[in-house]
Amino acid sequence: MNDDVRHARDAALTAVAATATLDQLRAVEIDVLGKRGALAGLKAKLGSLPVDDRKVIGQAINEALGAVQDASDARRASLGDEAMQSRIAGERLDLTEVTARRRRGHPHLSTQAWERLEDVFIGLGFQVAEGPEVETDFYNFEALNMPPSHPARSGFDTLFTDYDDEGTVLLRTHTSPVQIRVMQTLAPPIYMVMPGKVFRRDTPDATHMPVFHQIEGLVVDRNITMAHLAGTIDAFTKAFFGTGFNSRLRPNYFPFTEPSAEFDIQRPNGGWIELGGCGMVHPNVLRAGGLDPEEWSGFAFGFGIDRMARERHGVDDLRDMFSNDMRFIEQF
Ligand code: DAH
Repeated sequence: MNDDVRHARDAALTAVAATATLDQLRAVEIDVLGKRGALAGLKAKLGSLPVDDRKVIGQAINEALGAVQDASDARRASLGDEAMQSRIAGERLDLTEVTARRRRGHPHLSTQAWERLEDVFIGLGFQVAEGPEVETDFYNFEALNMPPSHPARSGFDTLFTDYDDEGTVLLRTHTSPVQIRVMQTLAPPIYMVMPGKVFRRDTPDATHMPVFHQIEGLVVDRNITMAHLAGTIDAFTKAFFGTGFNSRLRPNYFPFTEPSAEFDIQRPNGGWIELGGCGMVHPNVLRAGGLDPEEWSGFAFGFGIDRMARERHGVDDLRDMFSNDMRFIEQF
């Protein structure tokens, strides 16, 4: 009889271990632990046994039933876990979409020059500001000491919008209007560079584009002189191009600075490159910015960013830089 109990227990344990799903386990449990199961059958026969045997065999049957129940509970836990895992796997949503082989890109060469210029000026103690690309006549011309009919206006091939009164809203022709916005917003001392896109009604050719990039500089503080301007330009030249480069100022005219100059840099081989304009901020411009020219003085400069990139990489035709031809762009 004891052998029968062991036999029935082992068969039940094997059946439980062989289940692969919770449904199968439920069926096996009814089979081996239920009233029609082998162990229940043995229990029913206990009454016909002698008292001593009845005790021993009864205990063995109870232990067998306990062991099968424990094994069954453990199996239920592990099947439940598996069921959860496979449900998670089955319901997983892959939200990534790979439409093509991914390639690592890099900033455009004008952007690279823009960022390097910012880095160098931040290193010299400047901050960076940006202004709107669509400007009013006031900021682009008038506040910069170019009243209506001022001859210097004709030097800018302006693109006007048809917004508001005719001829009052335009795509900015230079980054200089940001000088006024900075002066109106921040109290001096001001040490600011202002990079951005500018627009002119130019026909594209090897050296002109109707859209290009400039960086403007503005310093306003007490007792600023032309020497600070020359020193800053030279420090910038050496920091950006290298210590083998020199700079010079040449007299020139701009309405928004007085005196005004053009600044050039000299390559180590001796050749000069014209870079941009600069000068001492005109008192009228300080006034338009809300500052008292008796108290504050400053200098300003502005030059083309694309030209710097072109110079640095030896690009022959400016148009190549903006035609989005990957064969060209990928080279830099
Ligand atoms: N805004 C001038 C231009 O686009 C460049 C310039 C000249 C900027 C002299 C300045 C400056 O700040 O002082 O032609």
